[in-house]
Amino acid sequence: MRRSLPWTLVLCAVLAGCGDDDPTGMGVGDGGADGSSSGDDGGGSTVDGGVALGTTFKLSGMVTDFVSGQAVPGQATVNTSGLAPAPTVSVTGASYQITGIAPFSVFHVLAGAAPTHRSTYNMASTVDAADVTGVVSRALGETTLTAYQTAFAVTPMAGRGILIARTLDMTGSARAGIAATAFQLGGQAPPHTPLFLDAARAAAPTATSTTASGYVVFYDVMPGLVTVNATTASGFTFSGPQAPVAAGTVSLVDLVVTAGAAQPPTNVSFSTQVFPIFTRRGCETCHSGNGIGRDLGGLTLNGSTTLVLRELTQELSPNYNITRVNKAMPEMSKLLTMPSFEQPADRHPNVTFASASDRDYQLILAWIKEGAKDN
Ligand code: HEC
Repeated sequence: MRRSLPWTLVLCAVLAGCGDDDPTGMGVGDGGADGSSSGDDGGGSTVDGGVALGTTFKLSGMVTDFVSGQAVPGQATVNTSGLAPAPTVSVTGASYQITGIAPFSVFHVLAGAAPTHRSTYNMASTVDAADVTGVVSRALGETTLTAYQTAFAVTPMAGRGILIARTLDMTGSARAGIAATAFQLGGQAPPHTPLFLDAARAAAPTATSTTASGYVVFYDVMPGLVTVNATTASGFTFSGPQAPVAAGTVSLVDLVVTAGAAQPPTNVSFSTQVFPIFTRRGCETCHSGNGIGRDLGGLTLNGSTTLVLRELTQELSPNYNITRVNKAMPEMSKLLTMPSFEQPADRHPNVTFASASDRDYQLILAWIKEGAKDN
C-alpha cells in the first residue's frame, strides 16, 4: 500500500543549528538547498516556533563492478528494499539517484546492469537528516560469477541466492585466517561449504580460510533475511547486519570479527540508555507534536520518561490493541519491529535498525527482557 505521508516533521528537535532565523526554512545542511526536497504538503509551516519540514531526502551514487570498481556498462538497474512507500529511483547509465526517502531511514540498494551484471544487494545505506552523495554500490559481473562457479566447481541450485561476506577487524581492515568451519548462517551449517576469494577477488578454490581480501562466498542460500554468525567452537563473534537474500541474486555483507563470545548489554536503564535513543535515532521527529508517527501510530516518544514509559508499557496501540512492549515475547515488541528492517516492509515509513545487531536495538531488547522497568 502506498500512502501519501504528510511530512510535517519537526527536525529542529534533533538538529543543531536549526534556529528561528533560518531564512530558508530548511536548516539541514544541503537537504533542500538545490530545491530537490519534495514535501508532499509543500512544507514550511511553522510548529512550536521551530521549523516544520515538509521534506524527504535523496541519496545518489554509482553502480560499479565488484572486482574492478569501474562503473558498470550500459544502463544500471537500481531498486531499494525495506522502505514503504518505496522512494523514486532514477538512473542515468551507471549513476543513480533515489529521492523521496523518509528521514532516518536505513535501506538496501539492489544494483545490477543486465545483461552484464547480476542484481546485487548492497550493505544498508543510512539517510538521516541530510542528502547522501557518492555512494558506491557494487554488482557482480556475470563473467565473474561464471569464473567463480568454474573454479569452485559449483552448480548453484535454482531458487537460492549467493551471499558474499567480508570479514573485517575492528579497524575495518580485511581479516584473513577465518576458517570455513567458523561460519554459520542463522545458527545453521551453511547449505554449501564456504568458499573463499583471494586478494584480487578471484576464486581461491584451495583456500580453507579467509585470505587477505577477507571474502567468503556462500552458495545455495535460502531466500530471506540471513545472519552470518560464528560457531561457538570458533571462539569468534561476527557482528554485521542481516543480509536480504533472494533467488538468483547476490548479497554483500560486512562482518566485524572479534574474539570471544558476544556480550549483550545488561542492567539497562530506561531513563539514561533507552529514552535517549528516541532522540538520537530521530524517532521523535515523527513521534511528537503533529508528527505522522503520533498521528497514525498514536505514539509519543518525547516529553517525560514517565509519559513515554506509559505509552510503551501500558497504553494499548490503536492499531494493534496491544502494548508496544511485549514482555512475553520481547523480540515481537512493536517498539522493536516497527523501526526494524523486514521483508516485506511493514507499515512503518522508515527503517532505523538494519538488524538485531544494531547496538540501540540490543539496548531496547535487553531492557524489555529485564522486565521493561522504570529505572
Ligand atoms: C519518518 C517518520 C517516523 C520515524 C522517524 C519513526 N516513526 Fe514510528 N511510526 C511512524 C508512523 C507514520 C507510524 C504509524 C504507521 C502506521 O501504522 O500506519 C509509526 C508507528 C510506530 C509504532 C507503532 C505505533 C502503534 O501503536 O501503531 C512504533 C512502536 C514506532 N513507530 C516506533 C518508532 C521508533 C522506536 C522509532 C525510532 C527508532 C520510530 N518509530 C521512528 C513514523 C515514524
